[in-house]
Amino acid sequence: MANNAYGIDLGTNNIKIYDRNDDNIHVEKNMIAIENKNTLFAYGDSAFEMYEKAPGNIHISYPLSNGVIADIKNMETLVRYFITDLQKGNLKPADFYIAVPTDVTEVEKRAFYDLIKDANVKAKKIMVVEKAVADGLGLDIDVKNSQGVLVVNVGYETTEISILSLGGIVLSRLIKVGGMRFDEAIRAAVRREFSLIIGGKTAELVKINLKELEAENKCAVVYGRDIVTGLPVEREIPTKLVDECLEEHFNTIVDNVRVILERTPPELAADIYRHGIYLTGGASQVNHLSEKLAAGTGLKVNVADSPLNSVCVGLSKIINDDNYKTVAYAIEGMSK
Ligand SMILES: Nc1ncnc2c1ncn2[C@@H]1O[C@H](COP(=O)(O)OP(=O)(O)OP(=O)(O)O)[C@@H](O)[C@H]1O
Ligand SMILES: [Mg+2]
Repeated sequence: MANNAYGIDLGTNNIKIYDRNDDNIHVEKNMIAIENKNTLFAYGDSAFEMYEKAPGNIHISYPLSNGVIADIKNMETLVRYFITDLQKGNLKPADFYIAVPTDVTEVEKRAFYDLIKDANVKAKKIMVVEKAVADGLGLDIDVKNSQGVLVVNVGYETTEISILSLGGIVLSRLIKVGGMRFDEAIRAAVRREFSLIIGGKTAELVKINLKELEAENKCAVVYGRDIVTGLPVEREIPTKLVDECLEEHFNTIVDNVRVILERTPPELAADIYRHGIYLTGGASQVNHLSEKLAAGTGLKVNVADSPLNSVCVGLSKIINDDNYKTVAYAIEGMSK
């Protein structure tokens, strides 16, 4: 029987784990709730459920920041709990494939490897895969043979823009724009225009529902606290206002894609032009981003079928198909 194997895409907002045993991708919020500074109170989706609602003695946080591990101890705890849950409490030896961002320092990259090594999850083998390469495979691109593929992954705190060629990364840039910034922009606009304070989850919901609301010509109905009276109120927010406040962040993404295109070796331009841009990541689904990207670059934009999971789908291919194994590498020697 094949070894147990897991493919992990550690996102700032969501941790996605592919489990070979059930051939499924499991998604949980990458969040931890600690009570009285030292006791684990909740993790994953249930920690997120309490976020912005918990009392002062329960501290809820994301152990990742801007795509890299900021809180090693809590991240190890989360990985151990998630993997133990997937194995129904009985940890067996397994191989791990972990996706890492490219445009970070070697120390930050190695931290992903060390995380699995130190999480006590009985790791037999730990392999690292560049996130954009996994994304490419997950998007069904012939990554090993294509000479010029542009992948844009819009996540929670970061957007990773990468040019792939022949199974490797030619250029990559990680910028600090993503779904969180979109939510913040919505909160700021609602505060400015309606003197209304709304929570992060409300702003996220407005963002996610924007396409549908716009299609139906409806306003977003939100609940929050009036700045002047201090009382809870309901307001109708026009979608146009929300679209406008997101524009600035869309421009940042478009500008950075253009910078990467300008730096791309000309020999790769033909394939990029032919295939267009591959757009993925949870927040890439936000209203009007794909059109803005197409207009700002003159390229066709291919949107992912499963934007949240594309990295993990790629990892599943690497785990299950020996033809793709060469894109994964070990950094064992470096960690010593
Ligand atoms: N339908 C949707 N429309 C717009 N945004 C969405 C939608 N569904 C999810 N999102 C946003 O996607 C983001 C999460 O995406 P994803 O899981 O790819 O991020 P991540 O991998 O955790 O973060 P990062 O890659 O920055 O570390 C959240 O900001 C969420 O609000
Ligand atoms: Mg991500």
